[in-house]
Amino acid sequence: MQTGIAVFLVLVSTCHCLPFYNGFYYDHILNNKSGNGNGDVIHFNGVKLVVNTPEDALFAYRGGNITLPCAYHYEPDIGSARRLRIKWAKLHKDNTKEKDVLVAIGLRHRSFGEYKGRVYLHQNKPNEVSLVINDLRLEDSGKYKCEVIDGLEDESGIVELELRGVVYPYQPYQGRYQLNFHDGKKACEAQDSMMASFEQLFKAWEEGLDWCNAGWLIDGTAQYPITLPREPCGGKDIAPGVRNYGERHKRLHKFDVFCFSSALKGRVYYLEHPDKLTFQEARDACIQDGAQIAKVGQLYAAWKFVDLDRCDAGWLDDGSVRYPIAFPRLNCGPPEPGVRSFGFPGKDTKFGVFCYKMS
Ligand SMILES: *[C@@H]1O[C@H](CO)[C@@H](O)[C@H](O)[C@H]1NC(C)=O
Ligand SMILES: *[C@@H]1O[C@H](CO)[C@@H](O)[C@H](O)[C@H]1NC(C)=O
Repeated sequence: MQTGIAVFLVLVSTCHCLPFYNGFYYDHILNNKSGNGNGDVIHFNGVKLVVNTPEDALFAYRGGNITLPCAYHYEPDIGSARRLRIKWAKLHKDNTKEKDVLVAIGLRHRSFGEYKGRVYLHQNKPNEVSLVINDLRLEDSGKYKCEVIDGLEDESGIVELELRGVVYPYQPYQGRYQLNFHDGKKACEAQDSMMASFEQLFKAWEEGLDWCNAGWLIDGTAQYPITLPREPCGGKDIAPGVRNYGERHKRLHKFDVFCFSSALKGRVYYLEHPDKLTFQEARDACIQDGAQIAKVGQLYAAWKFVDLDRCDAGWLDDGSVRYPIAFPRLNCGPPEPGVRSFGFPGKDTKFGVFCYKMS
């Protein structure tokens, strides 16, 4: 009984503040319409705002442009729109935090952080508020929230964007299990890549990736993909799959890392040169050719997306020596396509070199 009275009193005092609550009041407070011609004032409170986004993930390539579709409507249809605020945000991996991408009120737009200058609203149809992202980066993959706020209601939809790419395991020159989480992240970034997500590793496993060392993923777990179950790699009698060591201590625990790279804007090529080269000579030779020594992520991207195929080992930027085989054949390594590695030979050993040119 006591509680009932308390609630009643609160309601009464609320009513003092908003004696004539209805759509008009609220609308009037939040939206000053005198500068804006689109406003039918809504008196009707049974109107529902609905936001539509695609259910399936969208796929794109690094460097490309993408439109993330989003549209809203009212049920029942009320003809013209109320004045709206549109907010696009990117969700953090665990869906708890979000980062503003773009906010639009009327004709005014503002974009944020690394999205500045690369995003705008696409409004071909009256109720369309799609987001265009230009010049896609590796970090752009993930979930985006399209939020429509009309003062009375606030509805949103999610669009998932995935970048097509290639996942590769990475060890530094010190060898196996030398990287804590933070080192792993830096190692990928130094090779024009980013630390892979579980979804990316899983997709690579579906496509046949098999690696018997655990590597960091961006969610802080260490996992490894096994296509052919065998004794030293988790056991012969366990089904193929991505084996999970679970979440690990980001500073104290050390593993390899899985890196993710996507299509390239430029071109990777094996430098035609009369001599084999030491590491330093290889770097210089690329620069003399108007290029740079290629990074590991760039070699993988060229192998994956333009079938780069060369049965000659070449230096790469991190001091490793590798070669890409898109069309397996005798004397060029195992029968599957792949990037073959010679590891990190002494820097005075002589090899060819892979260079990378922006255009
Ligand atoms: C409403 O907008 C107009 C024009 O944009 C402005 O002159 C006016 O001061 C605004 N009124 C309020 C209450 O914000
Ligand atoms: C992306 O859009 C920009 C600006 O509209 C354009 O210059 C560029 O060519 C587009 N890129 C691709 C890959 O279509």
